[in-house]
Amino acid sequence: MKTIPFLDMQASVIGIGCMRIAGMTASELDSLVKSALDHGINFFDHADIYGGGKSERVFGELLKSEPSLRENLLLQSKCSIHDGLYDCSKEYILRSVDGILERLHTDHIDSLLLHRPDALLEPEEIALAFDELQKNGKVLSFGVSNMNRYQIELISSALNQKLMVNQLQMSIAHCPAIDAGINVNTMKDEAVMREGGTLEYCRMNNMIVQTWSPLQKGFFQGVFLNDPEYAELNAVIKELAEKYSCPEDTIAYAWLLRYPAKIQVITGTTKPERIANAARAAEFSLTREEWYRLYKASGKTLP
Ligand SMILES: NC(=O)c1ccc[n+]([C@@H]2O[C@H](COP(=O)([O-])OP(=O)(O)OC[C@H]3O[C@@H](n4cnc5c(N)ncnc54)[C@H](OP(=O)(O)O)[C@@H]3O)[C@@H](O)[C@H]2O)c1
Repeated sequence: MKTIPFLDMQASVIGIGCMRIAGMTASELDSLVKSALDHGINFFDHADIYGGGKSERVFGELLKSEPSLRENLLLQSKCSIHDGLYDCSKEYILRSVDGILERLHTDHIDSLLLHRPDALLEPEEIALAFDELQKNGKVLSFGVSNMNRYQIELISSALNQKLMVNQLQMSIAHCPAIDAGINVNTMKDEAVMREGGTLEYCRMNNMIVQTWSPLQKGFFQGVFLNDPEYAELNAVIKELAEKYSCPEDTIAYAWLLRYPAKIQVITGTTKPERIANAARAAEFSLTREEWYRLYKASGKTLP
């Protein structure tokens, strides 16, 4: 498994997203985690809101029943969404982390992300919260999710820590941050500076870009694999899957890993057998021609 440096460990470039695990039984989750570890995947992404806390709770039960697992894992969680609003206040961040640690049965998490940008955020308050969490050893590193370069710079302006991660929605079928870069200086809708410069900013600042919903065609609208609406894309995926002798979902993950940032793909599969398909994507690299073929087959055009 390809890895990227993370604290004093190496993080697998494929991470397991735990948003959909709340309904899994202990033995199903055990198989999922063991399958990940067997394939060299050691990074697990949580959030305080997944399953209303149940996702972290079932994961924590596993760690409680097998404490030796913890030292082999990198655990990340996120906070800032609750009760229908966004909240990056010091009080909420501290309270949220205590809940995360209690549910996960751990004394620290390796990474904490601010889940979404709170319009009312105060960088100085976030800084106080992060300092306290670092000082008492509850959180080892910090990052953000769904933020653009200006939001990252604003928060960073008050922080004593470097933001290590930006987690963004990205798949072949939904990649506005890539579209914006390709379409600069055109009159196309994609050129509108929604996410423009975010990926470039993360690269310039050596941030890890984690991609969430790597198989979704939109905001939780279902996977594009085998979707007739994406017939052309699926035909190219099938052809490349044959070329690389791999399952089709592997090609979708490989497309993300080919982007030359410090990419970490966060898969949301709950099937141990599909973990292998994600892990396989780290074993080869698509060519430039293949990357652009897939991009265009998803319905995108170049200027
Ligand atoms: N930062 C944020 O705002 C944010 C937002 C959303 C999610 N996330 C993170 O990103 C992670 C991944 O998100 P996601 O779950 O939406 O990602 P995803 O991997 O694109 O979607 C997962 C879904 O796709 C299905 N699937 C996987 N492989 C498939 C295949 N080969 N054919 C058909 N269906 C397949 C899975 O079903 P099976 O379980 O049956 O495989 C599951 O229902 C989450 O767990 C969470 O950690 C972050």
